[in-house]
Amino acid sequence: MRISVIGCGYLGAVHAACMADAGHEVVGIDRDEEKVRMLSAGRAPFFEPGLPELLAHPPGRLRFSTDIADAASASVHFITVGTPQVAGGTAADVSFVDAAVDGLLPHLSAGDVVVGKSTVPVGTAGRLAARIESAGARLVWNPEFLREGRAVSDTVAPDRVVYGVAEGDETSVGVLDAVYARSLERGIPRIVTDHATAELVKIAANSFLATKISFINAMAEIAEATGADVTTLADAIGHDARIGRRFLNAGIGFGGGCMPKDIRAFQARAAELGLASSLAFLDEVDQINLRRRQRAVDLVREELGPLERRRIAVLGLAFKPDSDDVRDSPALEIACRLRALGATVTATDPEAITTARRSAPEIEYAVGVRAAVHGADAIVVATEWPQFRALVPAEVARWTAARVIIDGRNCLDAEAWRAAGFRYRGLGRS
Ligand code: UDX
Repeated sequence: MRISVIGCGYLGAVHAACMADAGHEVVGIDRDEEKVRMLSAGRAPFFEPGLPELLAHPPGRLRFSTDIADAASASVHFITVGTPQVAGGTAADVSFVDAAVDGLLPHLSAGDVVVGKSTVPVGTAGRLAARIESAGARLVWNPEFLREGRAVSDTVAPDRVVYGVAEGDETSVGVLDAVYARSLERGIPRIVTDHATAELVKIAANSFLATKISFINAMAEIAEATGADVTTLADAIGHDARIGRRFLNAGIGFGGGCMPKDIRAFQARAAELGLASSLAFLDEVDQINLRRRQRAVDLVREELGPLERRRIAVLGLAFKPDSDDVRDSPALEIACRLRALGATVTATDPEAITTARRSAPEIEYAVGVRAAVHGADAIVVATEWPQFRALVPAEVARWTAARVIIDGRNCLDAEAWRAAGFRYRGLGRS
């Protein structure tokens, strides 16, 4: 099939590369010339395991362009532009989606299928459908559920695919089945529904996951006040198959380019619909999440007292491992708050130093744990990279005089660190 992918950010670049790898002829379109230059040269503009391999060995079916007119050669058009938080508000800014549709309309042919993948407020597809249909094309809403760090495998083998189609639009269902034939052959569940349900599936899934994380972080607050251990609690309740252990890791909470802005945009949309109270709990989810960042800062202060002239090593900057993304990263925010309290902060991360330096030049950056902890008074582990989990406490003790370690992700062996002479403090752990 001939496919265009409008918007080559995180989602679009991965989607374009995976679609080409699946045998389709793909043009990725983005107005950012530098991004298009990099992708055309086979280089990924961001860190994502597996993507460089797909781009470096293009099967001759993948190209990139800054010219939306190049979409005219395709018959299936994916909209994969961002929907960030509006400046000064919490709603989603859908102007990039509107601009993509505006740009695409003159190049659509009768029978084309436009496939929305961006995360949008419910009702957006309904609004766009009439315009797309006026060009003789059809609109499908086909949300993505990819996780950073797993984006390639999540695109190739998602947990499910969801098609939101206009009533009776069997033709588009057939087109998308052909697009995703490789994945569907694996027996991946396929759900066909209406536009609004498809839009909601995405935002509901993300809200549920965020709620799960904040639930266990609320338990961490209770555990801190009562001397209980939240990791043991999570293990115990997680054995109940109705609850499940995944996304019950307490710590400094969720961040990134999706989850925080998605739950805020969902609340804003509910308020527009006169249903603010239905999602009022998501405000609590957000507040609990943000409190945990401060808790990590408070633990450092409890251990060290005033932070002026203190040196703190922060291990981790990305919002999660296997990513160089620092958007709304709890790790980077903690580093900045410690700095704002007068500490000298030296941070390290296997992948995210370059992106972090751009948004937080006030932090000092070091390559490697050994350099970061040198001269430190305390160590904060803020992203659970495997290389931090694997640190040998006795070895770290030789690199630094610091004897305080704050485990912001509850990812270290508390006893091993204590045995090496550290005061170990986890979140929600006694
Ligand atoms: C998320 C959704 O998982 C994905 O389906 C959607 O398409 C986009 O948003 P992503 O932002 O890549 O994906 O990260 P995810 O792995 O979900 O983690 C989100 C945040 O939650 C990270 O900051 C992570 O550290 C944190 N987290 C996750 C916890 O604090 N505890 C957990 O138990 C799990």
